[in-house]
Amino acid sequence: MSAETVAPEGAEPRSCRVDLQPVGKRAEVPAGSTVMDAARRAGVGITSVCGGQGTCGRCRVVVTAGPLGEPVDADLRAFTRVELDAGHRLACRTPVTADLTVALPRASLLGDQRLQLGAGGTGEGEAAPAPAIRVLRALMDPPSLTDQRGDLDRLGAALRTAHGVHAVQAGPAVIGQLSRTARDCGWDVVALLHGRELVGVLEPGRTVAGMAVDLGTTKVAGYLIDLTTGAELAAGGVANPQIPYGEDVVSRLAHAGRAQDGAQVLAEAVRRGLDELAGELAGQAGLAREQIAEVVVVANTAMHHLLFGLPTRQLAASPFVAATSAALQLRAQELGIRIAPGGLVHSPPIVGGFVGADAVAMVLACELDESAGVALGVDIGTNTEIVLRHPRRAGLTATSCASGPAFEGAHIRDGMRAADGAIEAVRIGPDGRVALTVIGGGAPVGICGSGIVDAIAELRRVGALNGRGRFVPDRPGVGIGRDGLQFVLAAAEGSATGQDIAVTQADVNEIQLAKGAVQAAITALLDATGTDPAEVDEMLIAGAFGSYLNLDSALDVGLLPRLPNAVYRQVGNAAGAGARAVLRSTVQRARARRIAVDTGYLELTTLPGFQARFARAMGLPAPLAPDPAPPAPGVNDPTAATAAEPAPATSEPPGHVPSLPSQGA
Ligand code: FES
Repeated sequence: MSAETVAPEGAEPRSCRVDLQPVGKRAEVPAGSTVMDAARRAGVGITSVCGGQGTCGRCRVVVTAGPLGEPVDADLRAFTRVELDAGHRLACRTPVTADLTVALPRASLLGDQRLQLGAGGTGEGEAAPAPAIRVLRALMDPPSLTDQRGDLDRLGAALRTAHGVHAVQAGPAVIGQLSRTARDCGWDVVALLHGRELVGVLEPGRTVAGMAVDLGTTKVAGYLIDLTTGAELAAGGVANPQIPYGEDVVSRLAHAGRAQDGAQVLAEAVRRGLDELAGELAGQAGLAREQIAEVVVVANTAMHHLLFGLPTRQLAASPFVAATSAALQLRAQELGIRIAPGGLVHSPPIVGGFVGADAVAMVLACELDESAGVALGVDIGTNTEIVLRHPRRAGLTATSCASGPAFEGAHIRDGMRAADGAIEAVRIGPDGRVALTVIGGGAPVGICGSGIVDAIAELRRVGALNGRGRFVPDRPGVGIGRDGLQFVLAAAEGSATGQDIAVTQADVNEIQLAKGAVQAAITALLDATGTDPAEVDEMLIAGAFGSYLNLDSALDVGLLPRLPNAVYRQVGNAAGAGARAVLRSTVQRARARRIAVDTGYLELTTLPGFQARFARAMGLPAPLAPDPAPPAPGVNDPTAATAAEPAPATSEPPGHVPSLPSQGA
């Protein structure tokens, strides 16, 4: 390996250049920074589960030019000797001491993931919009030597006369916009009012919009809404920019508490992300940022607190209480989100624990609060929220569990997000052939959440996994890989990475932990409210992962209770739909407040026997049916897996009792 630039002898350069390939980005960083720091500075997202602690092994890069230091312990754990000699390193552990060129494998990049941006929920957008922002035309008296009133007084008088609005207030930035716009438009303006507060002034005829945001631990979905017509003008999504600091709520809170400015760094990252999203959506719709008058954000409690700069220390320790549960309203300017000069950011109230306004929004969008029957809403994500509505017994009750990022493809050896190249569906035929469906087609890069759930359901069905989730060594297709027993889905020669893409024993354990957490939380909620599963009339599965999830596979692995398929409904991004409803309508905003107040919170860690329940939930249920037909033709078949006979249909208890994936621990 040749050095591209050599540092002066005996002295480290003050700053070093890092070229990131193949993305073609470059960053200058102080010597001693890490490659991960350089990628962050260049705006390139590198996969990270542990937040740069060197423990997850996911931030894999290859140093292709520049001095290659000795591998550290974390590198030795993550790579083979051959890989280390070829320049493979962990980005978060690799110091930059001179100019470097670094190759980023596709699987290490936080690529454009598939976001469920669809409608979500039920009954959205039927009523005429009645947003918190009022859009009022005002014909102002022009000033003269005999009329020396100020511009704001002049607008106030016009609004009083035309609309009966009294005592309008505004900050300096809005008054500046008023003075300019009034003179540009011949004193004929449109005032954007929140209550009596002027948040912006526009020329007549311009669209006034609001942005609704579902701020997830992993994904951020945004929607631009015309506040006059209620129409959706644009939609888009990005990965949560906090991911490089940890892929789950626990590591984010740990980062916030560990580093001196950790919370500030996380707040700035997500605020910058929302600012960029506003710019992107405005661009898509052909609007200027100043035409966005309000942003409504729904998020779980941790994401909510980090965004608004609220203390998070108490969230990270039992009893995991919020700093405030109330609805919040801040000026967008204070958060660095560039919209109308007096524009606001609103969050509906949160319920309790980690159940935030996103769960409230899901209830709102799915009309769970008005359900006549027993209904259960589950938003499966890195943090899973579950809300039960039992009209005859407990009303609304919510809980949440830390299901971790395994369903997002993290913590899985060959896992990746649901982006191009991800295996999203797996079928194993009676002859042992493996049929894969890959997002975007082509050779697979890795496996995403729905793919790994599918794979485990299939492996259990053909007997390659037993009820404890252990590989059965003598089953066809089960072999030994570099991490022990595994089942190869795509052999090296057929994969885009040139390496086997396999399900390992550790991967199965990760999914068992994640699905066990969800399953235990659902059953605990049902039991705590005295609800028999057979009473459930409707089961709503929300969120991006839930939208693409193969329901049969989810039932087969025990992620979801085995209820009749007709009970289930995959409703898309219901939290996003709820955020849009709150943005469009003050009636829905008030309803969100009522939902938050009326929803009881169930803290799982206080329930007797919950640990044992969780341990039981980690087992894989016995397969229901004999092998179905072989895989459909026309799908990828890049593996060398051979025939597998079904295993005896037995369900054994889990082999070990893991510790509960506590959200705050
Ligand atoms: Fe580098 Fe986890 S090992 S981010």
